[in-house]
Amino acid sequence: MSRRREQDRFGKQARREGFPARSVYKLEEIDRRVQLLKPGMKVLDLGAAPGSWTLYASQKVGPRGRVLALDLHALHSEIPPNVEFRVCDAREQTVESLGGPFDVVLSDMAPKTMGTRSADQYRSFELFLTAVEIAARTAKVGGAFVGKIFQGAEFEQAREALRKHFVKVRVLKPEAVREESYELFLVGLGRREVSLGDAPTAPPTPDPDET
Ligand SMILES: C[S@@+](CC[C@H](N)C(=O)[O-])C[C@H]1O[C@@H](n2cnc3c(N)ncnc32)[C@H](O)[C@@H]1O
Repeated sequence: MSRRREQDRFGKQARREGFPARSVYKLEEIDRRVQLLKPGMKVLDLGAAPGSWTLYASQKVGPRGRVLALDLHALHSEIPPNVEFRVCDAREQTVESLGGPFDVVLSDMAPKTMGTRSADQYRSFELFLTAVEIAARTAKVGGAFVGKIFQGAEFEQAREALRKHFVKVRVLKPEAVREESYELFLVGLGRREVSLGDAPTAPPTPDPDET
């Protein structure tokens, strides 16, 4: 099947399965490949509208799990009982307001594209860094992160930013990403106990008897 027909298939499948957007299959593939979401987990979903990822995460974590979803705009789907949704700007949230800690932090945040590729990429990079910072402060040790970024000059910087906080970093381009799109997903696994580059703890006091 050609890539274009494959893309149409995702749109039809989303409508059939009751998801507001085909983007659900990007998360579904990432989840399948890295075993991300499990029953009972607590998930933060940044850039959640129209709501496909939220709905998928809500189903995967089940009634014992929780999803906190944020977006500048309202969701286009019913909000399941295990989901709390807030209309807000992720860049203005404090750690206290988000609660947590979260097992998984997701970010599908994307800027409104202006048509200038390098500017769009830079704004996507900034949103990605916002999401990494939030994950650094709210993800559990051992937790995971998935973030979207438009591939561009800052890509390596984005990957390095994630490596500071997660033991393993993977780059994934799910099949449901449109052929012409330059979006990629950076996946961080195993939130570090101490982020790389953080000030080390005080060295042990030298033993006065030791020469
Ligand atoms: C590609 S859509 C997300 C699709 C969603 N994951 C789904 O599956 O339905 C990107 C979203 O990021 C949101 N967004 C962009 N900047 C944001 C910000 N600063 N805070 C919160 N959401 C933001 C946009 O409003 C938009 O709804």
